[in-house]
Amino acid sequence: MDGNGRWAKKRLLPRIAGHKKGLNSIQVIIKSAINYNIPTATLYAFSTENWNRPSEEINGLMNLFSDSIKSQRNKVIENNIRVRVLGDIGIFTKKLQSEIKTLVKESSINTGLQLNIALNYGARSEILMAVNKAAIKKKGALLEKDLIDNLYTNGMPDVDLLIRTGGQRRLSNFLLWQIAYSELYFIDTLWPDFSDKDLVNALYFFQNTERKFGNLKGEK
Ligand code: IPE
Ligand code: MG
Repeated sequence: MDGNGRWAKKRLLPRIAGHKKGLNSIQVIIKSAINYNIPTATLYAFSTENWNRPSEEINGLMNLFSDSIKSQRNKVIENNIRVRVLGDIGIFTKKLQSEIKTLVKESSINTGLQLNIALNYGARSEILMAVNKAAIKKKGALLEKDLIDNLYTNGMPDVDLLIRTGGQRRLSNFLLWQIAYSELYFIDTLWPDFSDKDLVNALYFFQNTERKFGNLKGEK
């Protein structure tokens, strides 16, 4: 979800106004994901590198996370959404940690959209964590499955489609293991402007891409 800051700057607003507007896009996209029967969606909300931002912006984002959990809790339950966090939230305030944990626990019995929120997430540290956890549990050479079972995404399939808004063509340490065979979709639209129509276009792109996974399927 990239482009919140630029969206605000274009309007001479503080960056946090862009993040607030970005929350609207999140609501729209979650609704659409449910409508289109998308089983799993992951939002990259805060990376391990985002700590390098000015403290004013970081505090603003933390307050937004906390406010959103409170204001969206009922919608999460009503819409049968199961929330999971990808990332190490141990660095957040005790209050925010407990708000997050409560929502994850409360929604864990839900059976609809699996909604992952990547918070203090970085793929390299996730992979390293998974290797270390797997190595403690098992002597000898690790298999791919041993590592996969210890990722934050354990029990979930690989990513099919990755969408990055905001014009940059890079991955920024996002789900590097899980996107090995993903289709990549980059668009210039800033996240606060991302709409249902943009999601539909991304889904058309995905539908029209033949996935080969290294074999020759479909080739003459
Ligand atoms: C949102 O966009 C990403 C978050 C960390 C929430 P940015 O804040 O990176 O926006 P730009 O790239 O400055 O426009
Ligand atoms: Mg950015």
